[in-house]
Amino acid sequence: MNQQLQRWITCLLVFGVLLRSGAARGREQVFTAGRRLRSERSLVVSSTAGALRSVSAGGTQAQLDATRAALQAGDADSSSDGSLASRPSRCPGRCTEFGTCNEELARCDCPIGRNGTDCSEEVPSGPALQQVCARYGHTLASCTRVDAAGCVNGCNGRGRCVGGFCHCRPGFFGADCSLSLSLSRAVPAAAAGADDSSSSSSSSTAARPAVELLAGQGYAVRASGPRIYVYELPPELNVYGNLDRLDRPLMYMVWQRLLSAGVRVADPAAADFFFVPVRVRLSYDSEKLVQAVSYIRSTWPHWDGQPGGGGERHIFVHTGDWGRDELSEEAQALTRNATWLTHWGLARDHEFAGWKAAHRPGRDIVVPLVLQASLLSSYRLTRTTPLHPGAAAGGRKLRPRSRTMFFAGRVCGSRAQPSTNGTYPNCPDVLGKEDAYSAATRQMAFYHHHNRTGWKMVTSSKTYALDMLGSKFCLAPSGGWHGAWRGVAGKRAVISVLMGCVPVTVTDGLLQPFEPELRWDRFAIDVRERDIPVMHAVLEGLKADQVSEFQSNLRCAAQHLFWSSLFGSVFGEDGRYDAFETLMQVLRMRATYPSLGPEEYAYVDASFAAFMKCEAHLPGAGAATAAAAGAGAAGSGSSRSRGSGVAAVAAAGGLLGGFNGTGAAGGLLDVAKPDLGQALAAQRATAAGGGSSSSSTDGAAASGAAAAGGGAAGAAGGGLLPAPRALLLPAELVGEGGQGVTRQELCTHSELPVPPGSGSLPAAGSCNRCPRRRGRLLNPGGTICCNTKDLAKCPRLWD
Ligand SMILES: *[C@@H]1O[C@H](CO)[C@@H](O)[C@H](O)[C@H]1NC(C)=O
Ligand SMILES: *[C@@H]1O[C@H](CO)[C@@H](O)[C@H](O)[C@H]1NC(C)=O
Ligand SMILES: *[C@@H]1O[C@H](CO)[C@@H](O)[C@H](O)[C@H]1NC(C)=O
Ligand SMILES: *[C@@H]1O[C@H](CO)[C@@H](O)[C@H](O)[C@H]1NC(C)=O
Ligand SMILES: *[C@@H]1O[C@H](CO)[C@@H](O)[C@H](O)[C@H]1NC(C)=O
Repeated sequence: MNQQLQRWITCLLVFGVLLRSGAARGREQVFTAGRRLRSERSLVVSSTAGALRSVSAGGTQAQLDATRAALQAGDADSSSDGSLASRPSRCPGRCTEFGTCNEELARCDCPIGRNGTDCSEEVPSGPALQQVCARYGHTLASCTRVDAAGCVNGCNGRGRCVGGFCHCRPGFFGADCSLSLSLSRAVPAAAAGADDSSSSSSSSTAARPAVELLAGQGYAVRASGPRIYVYELPPELNVYGNLDRLDRPLMYMVWQRLLSAGVRVADPAAADFFFVPVRVRLSYDSEKLVQAVSYIRSTWPHWDGQPGGGGERHIFVHTGDWGRDELSEEAQALTRNATWLTHWGLARDHEFAGWKAAHRPGRDIVVPLVLQASLLSSYRLTRTTPLHPGAAAGGRKLRPRSRTMFFAGRVCGSRAQPSTNGTYPNCPDVLGKEDAYSAATRQMAFYHHHNRTGWKMVTSSKTYALDMLGSKFCLAPSGGWHGAWRGVAGKRAVISVLMGCVPVTVTDGLLQPFEPELRWDRFAIDVRERDIPVMHAVLEGLKADQVSEFQSNLRCAAQHLFWSSLFGSVFGEDGRYDAFETLMQVLRMRATYPSLGPEEYAYVDASFAAFMKCEAHLPGAGAATAAAAGAGAAGSGSSRSRGSGVAAVAAAGGLLGGFNGTGAAGGLLDVAKPDLGQALAAQRATAAGGGSSSSSTDGAAASGAAAAGGGAAGAAGGGLLPAPRALLLPAELVGEGGQGVTRQELCTHSELPVPPGSGSLPAAGSCNRCPRRRGRLLNPGGTICCNTKDLAKCPRLWD
């Protein structure tokens, strides 16, 4: 029947593609892209076949239909961009035949293995080509494979993806073929000199032809911003790398979503920020980064022409364990004024562990890890997360959280079993610097609490997910030390949030994802390292309503910490407050209030404050309040430059007392934080000091600051905690002020039913329909775009 037929068609197509590529190899003409294409149509057909092949594993009728629709759309396109193709290319020779002409820069981009000014030089197939491919992490097969899923945004259906490189149809260009010259404006006849940076910046941009994004597809930038310009770098700096080998694909995922979310702009002059699409994962990537910056500076005027200094408003992603600290000195110095998105939020040196400060609050942004699909399934999150409205529906029972604390994981850096006979150090110093592992926080926590009633502290657990579900608090220490095994801060914290377990963070000076914009003090407990011995008193001293207040805030926190729009929905969320949108909102604040510190945004911008609480916000309202807030900030807070805000946050550790309520009289946010600073101070006085090595010299001063912060919070809150808020579900927002989406657009991975009357909207369907590729790039534009091949039509979650 239907399915049979469809499988048969798929087989035929796959076979066709294999034949094609086999034939191409046979002719020593490795890049079929290198042959003159008979017609535009054949290109569309072959790239569509590639797309079909890539989805064939889990292919459904809907998928095939969508792909056929794309094929037809492609046909329509190719007739309408006849004018594009007929316009002479600004690149020399046969560039568009063998490669992609960046028409804006008149730069000829070649696929791997091709070279020369028009890509007509070819590395001979065989060992020589294999060597070139290997340089980019490719095998000979993978670097010659035609497969739309291997390219950024699948080349937007406007070209053919060969080994990660988009060979765009003539007239289209960019790493994802999203660009073309604007047809309505004149194009300079000669190539604008790429290095006329000696002339003034305005003249060098004026010489450039105007470009458009997704021309003819109705792409519009979202009104509320932010507006982000994406540099088109030479392909060897980004797309040559083998995407299948990426363990942390965040840079590519964000890059794709900038377009589908409508924040990418074609005109750098209109941009709030400049995104540099270079993947930085390990220290040796620094070299690539330096090359990219040097290329940018010689090609565009925006790096050096910034009011704040070179590289200001430029955004980089570093997915390495140690964030900025992992860059070479040269790369760090070069990007000193830029913004780094990293996973490692250490905001000051950690003397005891020997870690150097890597994160600069107010300039860099700590972002959550992209959790691998395998990790999520190992926790059976799609069935177990209590954050899903279906978790407690239909007679299901939520597991009572009868245990106080849970931790399972490595305690000793060497993986030795920690001793339990009452001696400290409790780990053998096998590797010479045992204490540096996790800054000894795991060792200390285990030493003091492993035998405590109601606490489960073990080195491994076969019931990890159940343990998290059955505990009120989950310890979330950082991993890592330099040189040996490394771990990233935040993974455990994010997972415990998803499991409804209140995370307890214990690393001094370490900011968690989106902190301080995201109020971690509303859903997590931060314990200073020196207070690890007494943390049981703090946790057990919390009143039931305080704990449930924390718990009720977890669902909103989880939305900010999970990349739902890139991955799909897991706990009934619709992606509107997901990590990507949170990043966008933080950037929007930066652009709107350049002189404010990040901890102040919520006080001056009602829509941001609402967004961070997962409440409907009116993006337009931000602009309305901006003028007033800006004036206020200029008047009252003029002495507080961003720099001093940074210093203050860093000095206070940014953690326990991190939120300084001063300067924001009548702030919008209710302070709901229990007075941990004072509780700790009291506990400390009575606690036995055994084994509590005071780890930092400024400990007293820092805890003093924390206590002061706590005192301020106590005064404001007066111990009167607001009643726990009911879970905020998407449907409650629908129709409010005509803003927001009216239906769930995001597919779901969840196996839980959406209970009627829960207020949650049924998801757009199962994400099983969406292309998957070993958890890599997933869908062009992000999983949220899985129902369309046209990224201009991908659901916009805001305006
Ligand atoms: C292309 O040419 C440049 C210099 O001419 C050379 O350094 C580079 O290795 C060549 N690349 C390939 C893939 O042959
Ligand atoms: C960073 O900005 C400052 C001005 O604030 C400038 O003096 C400095 O040269 C810039 N650094 C770099 C690497 O461009
Ligand atoms: C405790 O155990 C460790 C190793 O497990 C051992 O080296 C140490 O001597 C023991 N201490 C006591 C007091 O038994
Ligand atoms: C755990 O604590 C109990 C007392 O609460 C004690 O009897 C027992 O020896 C302890 N076990 C270990 C391994 O320290
Ligand atoms: C925090 O508040 C204190 C007064 O309580 C003030 O002296 C200090 O400057 C404030 N810090 C910041 C960063 O606003």
